[in-house]
Amino acid sequence: MDLFRRKPANPAAYCDSGLKRCLGAFDLTFLGIGAIIGTGIFVLTGIAAAEYSGPAVVLSFVLAGLASTFAALAYAELAASVGGSGSAYGYSYAAFGEMIAWMVGWDLILEYAVSVAAVANGWSGYFNNALSAIGIGLPNLLTKAPVAGGLINLPATVIILMLMILLIIGVRESARVNVAMVFVKLLTIAVFIGVAGFNIHPENWSPFVPFGWFEHTAEGQPIGILAGASIVFFAYVGFDAVSTAVEEARNPQRDVPIGIIASLFICTLIYIVVSGLLTGIVSYTQLNVSSPVAYSLQLLGYNWASALVATGVITGLTTVMLVLYYALTRIIFAMSRDGLLSQKLAHVHPKTQTPIRIIVISGVIISLVAGLLPLGVLAELVNIGTLAAFVLVSLGVIVLRLRQPDLPRPFKNPFGYTLPILGILSCGALMMFLPVVTWLRFLGWLAIGFVIYFAYSYRHSRLNAPQTH
Ligand code: ALA
Repeated sequence: MDLFRRKPANPAAYCDSGLKRCLGAFDLTFLGIGAIIGTGIFVLTGIAAAEYSGPAVVLSFVLAGLASTFAALAYAELAASVGGSGSAYGYSYAAFGEMIAWMVGWDLILEYAVSVAAVANGWSGYFNNALSAIGIGLPNLLTKAPVAGGLINLPATVIILMLMILLIIGVRESARVNVAMVFVKLLTIAVFIGVAGFNIHPENWSPFVPFGWFEHTAEGQPIGILAGASIVFFAYVGFDAVSTAVEEARNPQRDVPIGIIASLFICTLIYIVVSGLLTGIVSYTQLNVSSPVAYSLQLLGYNWASALVATGVITGLTTVMLVLYYALTRIIFAMSRDGLLSQKLAHVHPKTQTPIRIIVISGVIISLVAGLLPLGVLAELVNIGTLAAFVLVSLGVIVLRLRQPDLPRPFKNPFGYTLPILGILSCGALMMFLPVVTWLRFLGWLAIGFVIYFAYSYRHSRLNAPQTH
């Protein structure tokens, strides 16, 4: 059994998959922003400021942004040179071989599926608040999972089924809807920045570092700026989704790296400004609420702006779900085409040019999970899974440079191996601050993946058919 068989990295390997090549650098950047800005900035900033970092949450954002930047540069180098199906899965295939690639793909399925289901839960809360505000709020029975005393979280289920239909219709249509909604969320952020900019009380920034850099609570829980960084890291999850769009990009070698780096740059800037302002307009001690950005405006008496920001949250969370769901389907598509999952799934509908079977199966499963399970805790799994993928992609840059030094690299990280090494160290360090229980769940998921690989994927892999390599 050859556990290290690899697919060659090949710059000419942007093969014709039947998917429609219609996305340019602008669409890809907006896909990135669509996936990135969501729960992280609109929800987690408050918890991170109140419980982990204080006003220094802005530094937590800088640190998590730095780790993401190293990883994004590694993605950009591989997206420009490796070809194939893109994503951490595709890059791992070229760098490390099939088994690691399978594990990374399996990890990404968890990352994207859990993100979509968890964000759908948050979305449902905001949506129902909005309905209640106009007097037609849904009863608990229809907004809570059975273990939380309800029947089904209906809005969470329905929004995913609606996104499913959009993704079936076509990638161009989905990208257009995404661009429109991203504009709305950027506009609401601009409103927040505009209002907050005139209401800063500098005394709120003092003490700036109330919980230190790296401390522990009496119960042994890590707190401080670094622990805050591993929480707000969730806000950056999503730029990697751009790399799953290579087969639908018009000029992937040029535009995918642009989309990854531009979307991350824009969002990092926004996060630093918004988190800095948020802790400047109200005391960080008041921010431990589910919608801190909207709430802070309410505290200042700007109810109209608060309502507008709530609209931004609803559209913002919708684009996060749309793009991460899209990315999930493209990862499964690539894995099926490679024979690691059933190849029947990789059928592309000739009219819509979308992988309908995968979109429908994953949509129905996620909508049921989102409707029937409370998912708050599981969201931490997303961070660990994403960080693990980032570590491997950074390592992949080094391995591929050693194994295939002559591979054309239209985009290459400067300063030798320094930046990928910093990516491995910084993302690895953020993983260390996550709770033990998250590690156990993550390892449990990988163990299941390991069993499936040997029971099914190894034998059905296309690499077993000599004519395909
Ligand atoms: N980065 C995305 C969010 O914050 C997942 O919701």
